[in-house]
Amino acid sequence: MNNKIRNKKEFGDFQTPDYFAIQVCEKLKNIGINADSIIEPTCGVGAFVIASRKIFPDAEIFGYEINKDYVEILDNKLSSIGNTNIHIKQSDFFSTNWKENLSKINDKLLVIGNLPWVTNSTQGSLRSNNLPEKNNFLGFKGVDAITGKANFDISEWMLIENLSWFHNKNGTIAMLVKTAVARKIIAYAKKSNAHLINASIYKINAKELFNASVDACLMVLVFDQKSTPCYDCSVFDSLNTTDCTTIGHRDGLTISNLDDYNQLKNLLGSSSIKWRSGIKHDLSSVMELTRDERGYINGLGEYVDIEPDILYPLMKGSDIGSGNEWRNKFAIVTQKAIGMDTSYIREKYPKTWNYLLSHSEKLDARGSSIYKKNPRFSIFGVGDYSFKMWKIAICSLYKNLSFRLVEPIERKPVQFDDTVYFISFNSKEEAENAYSYLTSDSVQKILNSLIFWGDKRPIKASILNLLKWEDSENHH
Ligand SMILES: C[S@@+](CC[C@H](N)C(=O)[O-])C[C@H]1O[C@@H](n2cnc3c(N)ncnc32)[C@H](O)[C@@H]1O
Repeated sequence: MNNKIRNKKEFGDFQTPDYFAIQVCEKLKNIGINADSIIEPTCGVGAFVIASRKIFPDAEIFGYEINKDYVEILDNKLSSIGNTNIHIKQSDFFSTNWKENLSKINDKLLVIGNLPWVTNSTQGSLRSNNLPEKNNFLGFKGVDAITGKANFDISEWMLIENLSWFHNKNGTIAMLVKTAVARKIIAYAKKSNAHLINASIYKINAKELFNASVDACLMVLVFDQKSTPCYDCSVFDSLNTTDCTTIGHRDGLTISNLDDYNQLKNLLGSSSIKWRSGIKHDLSSVMELTRDERGYINGLGEYVDIEPDILYPLMKGSDIGSGNEWRNKFAIVTQKAIGMDTSYIREKYPKTWNYLLSHSEKLDARGSSIYKKNPRFSIFGVGDYSFKMWKIAICSLYKNLSFRLVEPIERKPVQFDDTVYFISFNSKEEAENAYSYLTSDSVQKILNSLIFWGDKRPIKASILNLLKWEDSENHH
């Protein structure tokens, strides 16, 4: 790998364009942020150091950067524009003695910049050392609690350290970060009772600025020891707009639009209707067939002669999400319920059994351990609900809340793959009523107020299951 690319990957190296660093500092000034001291903890070639100098001329500025070539470039730039009150140091964030550095710094502190954009797993694959010592950096417990998973951005670690600087100082953190990271940090601030009094997210165009396809923002967190903390966050679509929505935490939920949530939360409650995901079989080349004029063909290009009884029409997540019609696809549904004995297929549907046997090597080798503990040729995501005739489905991977009413095909209930969530009904009337409830303005609004569209799988069963159905009858 060439050095520059490796640098980019290992050190999450995306230098901020000078003009944009100026725009950010101007924005901060416009919203009333001021600073006596400024820290740029991973300053690179110094876009934010130079912009801060320009917009906050009286502040003392401290910049740190791991890459000594960058430090040299910045030193050169500064010696030509004047470097009074600016201190740049080559330093690894994770071994910098922040406590000592901060003891010399007074209110108001502004921590500004753009931390490395890299996850620990990318670093793992590069065998990089650019990670904190797990056992002595901030105590792993705190980090674990916020990430809750193995893959996280190293900027999360850095930001948790940044937060701790405001335990007894007033000031602001203004960082360009992934929006998902910003949300996690604000949640962490709440959990750790940080003296956060105002949080904002200004969306930025990371594609245009950094050629990175990621949902990113300028996160601005204002800390004040004396005021009452508030962990709600205003979300602006750009640096230039004043319209915003407010996200926050209520009733144990993370809300993407507090106004809508407060207005419509009476639509949430316990419910007997449960959203399910579609069938999981982990071998579409064998378990899924397409019908053409010659018969059923599998994903390996083989025409397959089997009894049609346990074949069910199949719609994939992409069909549901993109509004496509059924494409003559079928799934072999070997069980009516999880764990059901499959040996009945041998007696009742010998051709199907032989087909499955002829691909048993692949079927028996399916990776997940759930297959090992269950009857041969098992599938998952089946139950009574799979066999009700009428269904309402939505694809979890698509970025819109469009439900599909799916009617039976060839007198059989349609099945889905496991990227789809659905509910099912015995009668057309029930399904139509439910569909008009789900597509009503108020239900769309309350669900939207719980969805974060920047997430990879924005539509979650846990969100859909919050909807109360008992009152839905009154709706019509
Ligand atoms: C996304 S770039 C942004 C640079 C600069 N803040 C800016 O806004 O242009 C991240 C910077 O972090 C530096 N970096 C990566 N790991 C670091 C570490 N452990 N300590 C200090 N700097 C680090 C990289 O060399 C890179 O310059």
